[in-house]
Amino acid sequence: MKISKKISKIGIIGYPIAHSLSPLIHQYWFEKYNVDAEYLSLEIAPDSLKSFFEDIDQYNLRGFNITIPHKVNALNYVDEIDQSAKTIGAINCITINNNKSLLGANYDAKGFMDSLISNYSENIFNKKPVIVIGAGGASRAILYSLINYGIKEIRLSNRTYEKSKILKKYFGNVIKIIPWDEKENSLNDCGLFINTTSQGMIGKDPLDMDISGLPREAIVIDLIYNPIDTDLIKRASLRGNKTLNGLPMLVYQAVPAWEAWFGIKPDVTKELLDLLEKALQ
Ligand code: ATR
Repeated sequence: MKISKKISKIGIIGYPIAHSLSPLIHQYWFEKYNVDAEYLSLEIAPDSLKSFFEDIDQYNLRGFNITIPHKVNALNYVDEIDQSAKTIGAINCITINNNKSLLGANYDAKGFMDSLISNYSENIFNKKPVIVIGAGGASRAILYSLINYGIKEIRLSNRTYEKSKILKKYFGNVIKIIPWDEKENSLNDCGLFINTTSQGMIGKDPLDMDISGLPREAIVIDLIYNPIDTDLIKRASLRGNKTLNGLPMLVYQAVPAWEAWFGIKPDVTKELLDLLEKALQ
């Protein structure tokens, strides 16, 4: 299928945006699926978000992704949102309908679960408790995804206790709050360990947490992808845990966006993941 250039602009808004890997993902699929489209990386400062949405027609976009720091504020400018966006309280994707109305969605949760399931068999983790470190925006999407999937016990530990309490109030008793200084003692029967904090990201200190109490069968997930191998991922691999970094999640959240924009379900190939890893080096 060839899609006319006139109606085939997609892109991303964020601030800053220069280091985003999204253009590479979409350009790869443009070529693979012979889609004649243009990708716009739009650096929109927080105080320009309103005027961006006021002038949105000028970009002739079919849809676009939304990244930090606009995921919550962009909610104010869409006409409709899907259930995941409602529950998570943030959007990462907008589709522009033929009548110019804007539909907001959040595909971070789906991207997370699809990347996990495509890498590991579900029966490794599906009945066991999960420990989630961090209670920020990324954590909210992960909690939604785990609950939707049917996980029955999620242990949530965050440096700031109050934020865990807000999430427990929101998501209910499936969340068990673990005080920050007790997190190391809550690992012995977990099937998944998920770091949603920014600790370990390039330029930041590693996550300061001993994982020696975690079963070796557990999968250790770090939502960070820059660097690909955080200190946490390295320590987990060394002790024999299976691991997953944030790169597949980044790619998998773009799949439903393509379905919404182009009606095409693109493949997540090793070639694409390798290309992104190389770009990060
Ligand atoms: P995001 O949207 O990427 O999740 P965020 O909402 O700012 O970003 O959340 C960042 C998360 O990293 C929070 O859970 C934060 O903990 P606090 O709620 O206590 O701030 C966590 N975080 C950031 N720096 C941290 C540090 N030095 N040690 C432990 N947790 C940290």
